[in-house]
Amino acid sequence: MAPIVHVLGARPNFVKAAPVISALAAAGAEQAVIHTGQHYDARMSEVFFDQLGLPEPDVNLGVGSGGHAEQTAALMIGLEKEFTGRSPALVIVYGDVNSTIAAALVAAKLHIPVAHVEAGLRSFDMTMPEEVNRRVTDQLSALCLVTSPEGIGHLAAEGVPVERTHLVGNPMIDTLLANLDKFDTGAVREAHGLPERYVLATMHRPANVDAPETAANLVRRLHGVADLADLVIPVHPRGRANLLAAGLDEHDRVHILEPLGYIDFIAAVRGAAAVVTDSGGLQEETTILGVPCLTVRPNTERPITITHGTNRLVTFEELVPGVRKSLEGGPAGGAAARADERRPPLWDGHAGPRIAEVIMEFLGE
Ligand code: UD1
Repeated sequence: MAPIVHVLGARPNFVKAAPVISALAAAGAEQAVIHTGQHYDARMSEVFFDQLGLPEPDVNLGVGSGGHAEQTAALMIGLEKEFTGRSPALVIVYGDVNSTIAAALVAAKLHIPVAHVEAGLRSFDMTMPEEVNRRVTDQLSALCLVTSPEGIGHLAAEGVPVERTHLVGNPMIDTLLANLDKFDTGAVREAHGLPERYVLATMHRPANVDAPETAANLVRRLHGVADLADLVIPVHPRGRANLLAAGLDEHDRVHILEPLGYIDFIAAVRGAAAVVTDSGGLQEETTILGVPCLTVRPNTERPITITHGTNRLVTFEELVPGVRKSLEGGPAGGAAARADERRPPLWDGHAGPRIAEVIMEFLGE
């Protein structure tokens, strides 16, 4: 049997792939994992493979960082050789990173069907590289595996035939729920010397951190948050230099951490009084953990986290008042995962098996 090939490149891919790979293994599928090397620091990659029980990649292309064209081109060249050599029955891609679009483009030209996990999300903001990646990947995919109901409408509006779209739920939430017993906030607090009550922030979007003036403006707002409560920031390598140059660490109540592994990170999120972020996945994770989330972006491709969750979009100006309001809103959230009936539909921990079922049926197994 020709293998199903998973293409993984960046941190959020690893969290989404773990339940899909394990469900396909349970269904008896032959699989291979190609790590593109888009993320390569041990803290951005290896720790996720270890903690999530992902299989050792069959190959790591070692593509690394670069401009969009440089990185995407290198990804495509490496992936074309791998796909030609392995003749996959199907290529599975995840999310919206450059490794996702590169794999979809290469597979399509080699007439290999593509399954896109997390299809149909739209921010309608074409200045985000992820929006470009999502739109193109969905057009090229034989199977659009959708996490959130509005995705079905977005795909239909773009002319994707309905028989290609499947609402399967959210595999990132499978991973969260499967590890719920392991998130020990006390242990993370102790390991990093964190106070009982804190706000956790992550910021890495190009629009927020790439321009030094914008990063400096953001740092002023984050210091405003730190005036209200201790602020814990695991710093993504992108933006690290600009945020530190703008004096991020020059506040007594700012705690800067290296990027955390999955278990420590979600444990820290679970114990936070509020989260400030521009991440996509964290909007979903806080929704399930019941932690107030302030997303510093003008839009979101995940509006269900606003309607069914704890998420709120804020401008730079609205950030400090928004955090104040969240802190006044009551005790820290996150003591328990949200009850089933309050979660977005199918964010129930069983997306992986649903995805495996659609894929096995597609392959005629
Ligand atoms: C990528 C995704 C983004 C996702 C994010 C999750 C794209 C276009 N963007 O953004 O959607 O939210 O991953 O983390 O694919 N770097 C390191 N070590 C690493 C990886 C990156 O130091 O292991 C640094 C490099 O300086 C690099 C920069 O981070 O130039 C950006 O990395 P890149 O993979 O291009 O994009 P991200 O910002 O990580």
